[in-house]
Formats: sequence, structure tokens, C-alpha cells
Amino acid sequence: MTRVSQSKLETFVSRLLESYGAKPAQARTTAKAMVAADARGHPTHGVSRLPFLINGIRHRNCVPSAEPKVVKNHGAVAVIDGKRGLGHYVAVRAMREAVRRAKRFGVGAVAVRNSNHFGSAAYYAEIAARANCVGLVFCNAEAIVPAFEGKHKVFGTNPVAASFPSAKTKINPQGFLTLDLATSSVTRGLLLESARRGVALSEGFAADKNGVPTRDARKALDGLILPLGGLGKGYKGFALALLVDALSGALAGASTATRVRGSTTTADACTKGDFYIALDVNAFRSITAFKKEIAGLTFDVKKSGSRALYPGEKEWRAERERRARGIPLDAKMIARLRELGAERGIKTGF
Ligand SMILES: NC(=O)c1ccc[n+]([C@@H]2O[C@H](COP(=O)([O-])OP(=O)(O)OC[C@H]3O[C@@H](n4cnc5c(N)ncnc54)[C@H](O)[C@@H]3O)[C@@H](O)[C@H]2O)c1
Repeated sequence: MTRVSQSKLETFVSRLLESYGAKPAQARTTAKAMVAADARGHPTHGVSRLPFLINGIRHRNCVPSAEPKVVKNHGAVAVIDGKRGLGHYVAVRAMREAVRRAKRFGVGAVAVRNSNHFGSAAYYAEIAARANCVGLVFCNAEAIVPAFEGKHKVFGTNPVAASFPSAKTKINPQGFLTLDLATSSVTRGLLLESARRGVALSEGFAADKNGVPTRDARKALDGLILPLGGLGKGYKGFALALLVDALSGALAGASTATRVRGSTTTADACTKGDFYIALDVNAFRSITAFKKEIAGLTFDVKKSGSRALYPGEKEWRAERERRARGIPLDAKMIARLRELGAERGIKTGF
């Protein structure tokens, strides 16, 4: 593994996107959101997705210069047409819009259609938390998850993230508490990375195209990821995936279930949807009291056992370490990034 500084990686991604027509702010915003996933220890949702994004641009399913547009405006509610823009950029714009409405109405809810893959959901939930709002993010994706006890795929890995403003403490110095999870046992990104690196999956998380459990990521990519909870236990995860599909697909006027296309296979236009909620804490109670209470929750978690972690703890610890030492990239990933750069006459700088 080679360590690459976060800012070098952001600069490379940003310059690459500009070479495909993104305006500087669109390129920078996308690069920051994408590299943040690597920094937090989720390489499956960071720069490893860049080749898919570039493929989407080549197929004109992603238009880097597109600006999202509010197409429905109803008090605290907005619907945004992403205009096939960069998914990370559209997501940042959408959550900012939700926060703006929350500051006026106490709550802001923004649905997005016609956008592209946005990487890790936490990044957008934290935009709200930084503005003293609770942030909620939902997003659907191409189907790969069967119904509980089902044999055919119905839903995507449909992530949910929530971030709560928190008092800064020694055990959580971030100023927010964030949870962020796929509603499937593992993410499609993990399958892609495991297949790329030839690593076996854990037992009970995936099945082949005939519904037979498998640990082979390539077979699973062509088959199924079991709902959160895994083999024999996934009915709650499956229900949560449905919740995400109803909000980010049905309510956004995007696609649902097996009709979602193009979130990973970017040769198809992306028909997934996103849903963002911001709740202004001050509309409910004093922000100081709320932050103290949320900080208290992390203490409660830590008191429950010496090995107990609160949600988001692994991620901020990874981020702190990577800020200091750089982001680890394997030789194959570096070679792929260099290739992408060379096609546009851009040096990676690492
Ligand atoms: N854009 C998309 O279509 C899409 C789809 C699926 C997932 N994702 C993203 O993929 C990323 C990874 O998702 P995931 O489900 O694999 O995450 P994960 O399983 O690594 O973590 C899920 C949550 O559990 C917490 N956690 C992890 N280990 C813990 C422990 N030992 N104790 C307590 N809490 C712990 C994490 O902090 C996190 O909040 C997320 O950022 C998600 O948004 C994106």
C-alpha cells in the first residue's frame, strides 16, 4: 500500500473532472465528497468508483457541468432534478437546500431524481449536523437484494445515514454523531472491491444467481446480496430497504425496486432517487441541551463495555489517522488512477 495525502487525491480527482467539463466548484465539491469516503475507511465508496463515474460521462449518462434545478417548491419541501449531474455535487446541493428550508420552517425535506451515484451517505447528513440540524439521508440503488426468503432481487443496497449535532468531547471530538449503513448485509462496493482483490466474502451475506449461498464476490455480483441480518435473519433489513425505496424512489418520482438502473452500471442512465431531511434542533429545543444529550449517548455506549464503539467512531478514527499519514491505495488502484489521468494528459502527482 502507498499512502497518498488527502489533498493530493482531491486535487487529482478535481482536475480530472474539470477535464471532462465540470466547473471548478462542481469538480472540487465532488472530489472532496468522494475522497472523504476513502479517508473514513470506506474505500469501496471512494476513488475506486472513479472509473464508473468516468464511464458514465463517456456514455453521456453523467453530465459534469449540469446544475441541479428545483422543479417543485412547496414550503418546507423541494423536489430537485439533478439533470444527470455529478451525484456527489447534486447531493451536497440538495442537503444545503434542506438545511435552508429547515432554518425557515423547522424542517426541510428534499427529494432528488435524475442524479448519479453519490458514494457515502454520511457526508451529506453531516452537512446538516454542522448547521445544528439533524440530517437524514436515504438513497436507493440498482436491485441486488432479494426479499427475505426470496430467490430474486428486489431492492438495492439502499443506504440510510443520520447525523446529530453533538457537544465535542474527548471520546467524540467531531461535533456530531453519525450513523451510516447499507440496508443489505454488505455493500455492492464491497463485492466489487473483494472481486478486484480476489478476497472471499464472510459466510451468510451473499448468494449466487440461483440463490445458493456463496462467498465468491464475482458470483454474488451476478447474484444476490442478502438483506441486512444475513442468511435466515434478514427480514428487518429487507423492511428497511423498502422504507428507503419508498422515500427516495417513490416519493422523489425516481424509479423503485428492479426498475432502478445505472447507479453502478453507468452505461445505463441512472434512475435512482435520493431523499434528504434536515430538522432544525432549535425549533424543538435548545441546541446546547440537545448537543449535551447526544454527547451523553456516546458516553453511555462506551460505558457498556471496553470494546464498545458508537456509530461513526471507526470512521473518525480512520479519518484522523489518514489526515496524518495519508490514504492507503494499493498498486492496482494507483495504476488505474494513473491510466485515467494519462487519458486526459493529467499527472496524478503520486
Ligand atoms: N450510494 C450508494 O448507493 C450506497 C449504497 C450502499 C452503501 N453505501 C455506503 O457504503 C458505506 C458503507 O456501508 P456499510 O453498511 O458497509 O457500513 P459499515 O457496515 O462499515 O458500517 C455501518 C455502521 O456501523 C458502524 N459500525 C461499524 N463497526 C462497528 C462496531 N464494531 N461497533 C459499532 N458500530 C459499528 C459504522 O460506524 C457505521 O455507522 C456507507 O458510507 C454507505 O453510505 C452507499
